[in-house]
Amino acid sequence: MKVEKAFLENYRNYISEEITFREGLNVVCGSNAAGKTNLMESIFVAAIGRSPRTKNDKELIRMGENKAYIHLDIEKKFRSHRINVEIDRSEGKVVNVDGAKISRLGELIGLLTVVYFSPDELKMIKEAPQERRRFMDLSLSQESKPYYVMLGKYNGLLAQRNKLMKTTDFAEFTTTAFIWEKQMAEAAADIVMKRREFIEKIGRSADEYHRRIAGEGEDVTLVYEPCVEGETREEIKQAILLKLEESHEKDYELGYTTVGVHREDFNITSKGIDLRKFGSQGQQRTAALVIKLAEIEYYYAESGEKPVLLLDDVLSELDKKRRTALLEATAGTQTIITCTEFNEKVTDYHEIKIRGGSVVR
Ligand SMILES: Nc1ncnc2c1ncn2[C@@H]1O[C@H](COP(=O)(O)OP(=O)(O)OP(=O)(O)O)[C@@H](O)[C@H]1O
Ligand SMILES: [Mg+2]
Repeated sequence: MKVEKAFLENYRNYISEEITFREGLNVVCGSNAAGKTNLMESIFVAAIGRSPRTKNDKELIRMGENKAYIHLDIEKKFRSHRINVEIDRSEGKVVNVDGAKISRLGELIGLLTVVYFSPDELKMIKEAPQERRRFMDLSLSQESKPYYVMLGKYNGLLAQRNKLMKTTDFAEFTTTAFIWEKQMAEAAADIVMKRREFIEKIGRSADEYHRRIAGEGEDVTLVYEPCVEGETREEIKQAILLKLEESHEKDYELGYTTVGVHREDFNITSKGIDLRKFGSQGQQRTAALVIKLAEIEYYYAESGEKPVLLLDDVLSELDKKRRTALLEATAGTQTIITCTEFNEKVTDYHEIKIRGGSVVR
């Protein structure tokens, strides 16, 4: 799939600007503070419904204005779509797809699939498990609507169980929690199955990319760390149910649910070394890069369509070998990349020059 055109109005430092993209490689060039990240962010917002940088939508509105617009024209295998996002300082955010207002963001996610990579994504490697769960959830939600729904359901149930702990005495909690736990175990089993498959698949292609970039023998190994053991969906479900029951006392004491898919992680190692804790900056960066490339493969294998790759500020942080490998790996994928200077040995690309929130034509 591809983004054909973005039109931004009062979005961050853009007043009113139309930006056209092509198939293949698009290089967004400009000096610091020109508006490159803002442009990438706006595409992400139209794809996912929220910014990768902030939870506060109001920050997206140009200072001194009340309303920001993003219009995106996208082309998929069988048809094209228009996504409109309107952010109003007092009325909030409204998203339209092909002229029809959507009632929940779940209807938007998956329409335009994006793989977003910025220096900030290193968090996925080195920070708390929450960051890796966020990665799994965002990727899987884009690829699978049932996953997105199941995750929302699980989180709702989890909140109910946590609330119950705080509002009842222990005796009542142990007798009533079962109602939520049964449903939680059902949803969690689906989530575990999907995450396990995802990590296995992207792990395999991330490892291939890694050996190609870092050298034969330089593996990268992803290992899913589920909240329970179990092969089949039924086994997983039963194991989660049992663990939830066993943790009543502990959970009640602490005031939150200590077991479940909201506590999971995946391990990233190279030659047996845990890159989360012991990887060098370069190792962590390369791992993050190959995981993102693997994500492209994953979407393609699952849906038959390549996602749009958004690379913000990554070239400057990679060595020559990795830059070349990255650009080679993006062949056949619409890639939008930002940089202050583009000095790569590629000739076939579309350059978009940005200066002070405007396209230099
Ligand atoms: N809501 C807003 N209203 C007006 N300007 C904003 C708003 N939010 C951010 N900006 C400004 O937009 C400008 C461009 O920001 P952006 O992050 O896109 O720069 P960039 O081109 O990615 O620069 P760098 O090369 O440093 O990463 C900044 O000067 C920033 O202060
Ligand atoms: Mg930037």
